[in-house]
Amino acid sequence: MPPLRVALLGCGTVGSEVARLLTDSADDLHARIGRRLELVGIAVRRLNRTREGIDPALFTTDAAALVARSDVDLVIEVIGGIEPARSLILSALQHGASVVTANKALLAEDGGTLFAAAEQAGVDLYFEAAVAGAIPIVRPLRESLVGDEITSVIGIVNGTTNYILDKMDTEGAGFSETLADAQTLGYAEADPTADVEGFDAAAKAAILASLAFHSRVTAADVYREGISEVTTSDIASARAIGSVVKLLAICELSDAEGDNGQRRVSVRVHPAMIPRSHPLASVGGAYNAVFVESRSAGRLMFYGPGAGGSPTASAVLGDLVTVARNRVRGAAGPGESSYAARPVSPIDDV
Ligand code: HSE
Repeated sequence: MPPLRVALLGCGTVGSEVARLLTDSADDLHARIGRRLELVGIAVRRLNRTREGIDPALFTTDAAALVARSDVDLVIEVIGGIEPARSLILSALQHGASVVTANKALLAEDGGTLFAAAEQAGVDLYFEAAVAGAIPIVRPLRESLVGDEITSVIGIVNGTTNYILDKMDTEGAGFSETLADAQTLGYAEADPTADVEGFDAAAKAAILASLAFHSRVTAADVYREGISEVTTSDIASARAIGSVVKLLAICELSDAEGDNGQRRVSVRVHPAMIPRSHPLASVGGAYNAVFVESRSAGRLMFYGPGAGGSPTASAVLGDLVTVARNRVRGAAGPGESSYAARPVSPIDDV
């Protein structure tokens, strides 16, 4: 059998780990899929950077040509951001490739366009790595729990801010010095706005709420407040009443109905005090966790590393094996129709 051909878009922390795993685990992946995977190209911005353990002949700066190749079966997008990622994914789908993406910002802004394109092409669009790194949470919401009625999803979905709040709590340190420490350790970006002001968590919340409530929630629908105003005295006040401050992404199905008669969805990201007895209170460091409540399953908690090259690459590879298996069987996973089965009205305030 000919191999399934894979194109990789982006070769940063996650992409380079994915490329290495495709080589190092080639025999295992072959055994699990039933077909060999062949990495045929890696789109990068600059060619003059060496990436250890990756064949330099694979690199190209022409991402558009790579995704338009008719012999490419699977495309992995780990560039991030809206453009050129959106155009490249759409082109890949239109050319008949299945796509695995870690792009939370794009899914939260314009997921509908991507899902429609995948549906039309009859191919897969998988995105486990877009929310909470290695933690399996997209597939449980999209597939395992799809027969249940989820009533709330509450998550710590940003590792940088959890690291900062945890350190402020355990060491009594201030926000600015803890942020500087997080930047030195490589958790926080040089420009920490997306993490600290809650944009990253809001994008993830939009994706989780869309899946949990079969809705179409975008980042713009999410009420958002970051942690830059959290003070040492806020942390001390929480401590005094047996609570801890966490940046929470809260997605709830409310009892109120929208104009269309459907129950409204409330999605918000903000710092909140939670009792130390709550399972989310013990999530420390840069870890993530998502707490789900549903009618039949009850309470479930998903916990683990929410960022980093290796954990995120694990989620990408899991999706890659799944879409490759689907491809081998001539099948496709859940598409747009199951994603947006029940319309609800996101609220724009709280
Ligand atoms: N910057 C994110 C975090 C990781 O700190 O959780 C990628 O989503």
